[in-house]
Amino acid sequence: LHEAPDILSAAFAENPYPFYRTMRKEHPLIWHEGMQSYIISRYDDVEKAFRDPVFTSDNYDWQLEPVHGRTILQMNGREHATHRALVSSAFRGNELETKFLPVIERNSRELIDGLRDRNPVDLVEAFATRFPINVIVDMLGLPKSDHGKFHGWYTSIMAFLSNLTQDPDVMAEGMRTKEEFAAYMIPIIRERRKNPGDDLLSTLCAAEIDGQRMSDEEIKAFCSLLLTAGGETTDKAIASLMKNLLEHPEQLEAVRADRSLIGAAFAETLRFSPPVHMIMRQPSEDVELSGGVVPAGSTVTCLIGAAGRDEQHYADPETFDLFRDDLSTTKAFSAAADHLAFCLGRHFCVGAMLAKTEIEVGVDMLLDAMPTVRFADGAPAEAGVFTRAPTQLWIDRAPA
Ligand code: HEM
Repeated sequence: LHEAPDILSAAFAENPYPFYRTMRKEHPLIWHEGMQSYIISRYDDVEKAFRDPVFTSDNYDWQLEPVHGRTILQMNGREHATHRALVSSAFRGNELETKFLPVIERNSRELIDGLRDRNPVDLVEAFATRFPINVIVDMLGLPKSDHGKFHGWYTSIMAFLSNLTQDPDVMAEGMRTKEEFAAYMIPIIRERRKNPGDDLLSTLCAAEIDGQRMSDEEIKAFCSLLLTAGGETTDKAIASLMKNLLEHPEQLEAVRADRSLIGAAFAETLRFSPPVHMIMRQPSEDVELSGGVVPAGSTVTCLIGAAGRDEQHYADPETFDLFRDDLSTTKAFSAAADHLAFCLGRHFCVGAMLAKTEIEVGVDMLLDAMPTVRFADGAPAEAGVFTRAPTQLWIDRAPA
């Protein structure tokens, strides 16, 4: 277990993939002193940590509570099942198609209209970081004029969650955000209970199972979770997907010619360069993984980014290929998904269908607005250890 790659080193942040390879091969189980966590990287181990109920998310109590309050991510067993059922119906096919598809289309169109005259343009700044949050704010039925506030809150919550070294200033800022967010949301939730509308917030207020409803505090915590779970992730998926396609012009042209391939490009992006690179679990009893036994009560960091390139699971895993036949795209958005980017099992991403719809609509409209497109400034660098994507994506639409 010694001399293992350090996932907090600068070299790892620069490019984690060679480290992932070494870890899968030589150090499938590492103890990281700084993070006080075990780290696993093989597909089979990460899959086990997601599916086996021995792995709880009790560790999220101290990781998420200070910034979000109590959310479904921290819950296990019956409590989780009930709360998940209360929120998840709003994110399924019917509701999505009838209520939220127009919201997604409207927000995508607005942003794309705004970038039409800008060339070159940074797609991350002009589109990817704005689109998913604007959609969530609109779905919740909150005013567009507050987009700026939501962007600010989400940035500081994300900084708190990515703060692997526990910098006290970042922690304090995250906790301040929790107060501010509550002061903004709770009066709106109370008002929406009295005067419901046709929006997600009203649906959450009215949701009921066995006579049980969510409290104001629980709805507020869920909305705070939505900002990061639905904003940061989809934002990074769009940036990575566009980068992957621009780096493979023949695949870009195939998608341009047949837009039904956007789903496959999305699934392959989630395998090859997932937005969330690591999530944590806590086993309730000693558990055997490749490389040894992880003791009950310890924290286990599951490297999704490493599992997606496991040569034991995928052929030629370091190649981006949306036509690969070992990643079923039909299954990619169900609980039987063959990539791990949405997690698996009980905590499988509630917003997977929403994310897929946003990507299909957003990328389709972007391609229409960019009949010719190339990197304006070479392939962009990626950044981030906990979540990862290009921080800028300058593109040029001038004819070659
Ligand atoms: C859970 C990834 C989009 C809402 C998760 C988890 C992952 C994930 C890995 C499991 C986290 C854990 O157990 O620690 C992604 C990715 C997305 C995406 C890669 C985009 C490409 C969204 C969107 C929403 C959303 C758009 C909603 C607006 C949630 C919620 C959970 C969750 C509420 C908690 C589920 C539970 O604990 O039962 N997501 N997500 N996600 N996601 Fe997503």
